[in-house]
Amino acid sequence: MRVLFINGSPHEKGCVFTALSEVASQIEAEAIETEFFHIGINPIRGCTGCKSCAGTGRCVYDDDGVNACAERLALADGLVVGSPVYYASANGALCAFLDRMFYAHSERFLYKPAAAVVNCRRGGAGSAFDRLNKYFTISSMPVVSSQYWNATHGFTPDELRKDLEGLQIMRTLGKNMAWMLKAIAKEGTAKIRSRQEERQRTNFIQ
Ligand SMILES: Cc1cc2nc3c(=O)[nH]c(=O)nc-3n(C[C@H](O)[C@H](O)[C@H](O)COP(=O)(O)O)c2cc1C
Repeated sequence: MRVLFINGSPHEKGCVFTALSEVASQIEAEAIETEFFHIGINPIRGCTGCKSCAGTGRCVYDDDGVNACAERLALADGLVVGSPVYYASANGALCAFLDRMFYAHSERFLYKPAAAVVNCRRGGAGSAFDRLNKYFTISSMPVVSSQYWNATHGFTPDELRKDLEGLQIMRTLGKNMAWMLKAIAKEGTAKIRSRQEERQRTNFIQ
């Protein structure tokens, strides 16, 4: 089993990475592999709504890691997405990345447990956390919880390491993710998949 970690911070080894690493340490302790994907600092295009993905199952823009990351997630069993808090939301580049990844590929992520992690200097963690959880709850991905909302605080990794409660929240999240992965592996997903209804899509037509 493997969990994919998406680091949505421009800083590859910053606070978000530090928080995600604390989650990963507990998952690895349960003999589950982890893999990190950093979205990087190059421009990430927003979704242009061209809908070509409806026919191809891939985003038409293939130059910024969105499709490559989706391939990694399709092969993984679980997902943790980490973001710095920017103006009380998730990082804009990460939102652009996730908009396109989920719009083009979400059917391949069904039933993979997922969690969001946010890091802020001071405030706005709650709304950033909510923003990220929306990707999972529209995609039939079971959301893994912790002992508190998944946030750490710090402007630098050294500051974050002083947030002892935040680090504990990360460790609890890692343990809970490992537990949920093992429970799902035992039950399998064939039964729930077989009970899916054909999708209704009702636009608001009067
Ligand atoms: C454009 C921008 C907006 C930010 N907005 C907030 C904010 O709303 N609340 C907050 O507490 N910190 C804010 N910060 C601080 C970042 O959350 C913090 O630098 C980041 O989480 C550190 O993680 P990193 O090292 O992985 O980048 C902001 C930083 C930037 C660059």
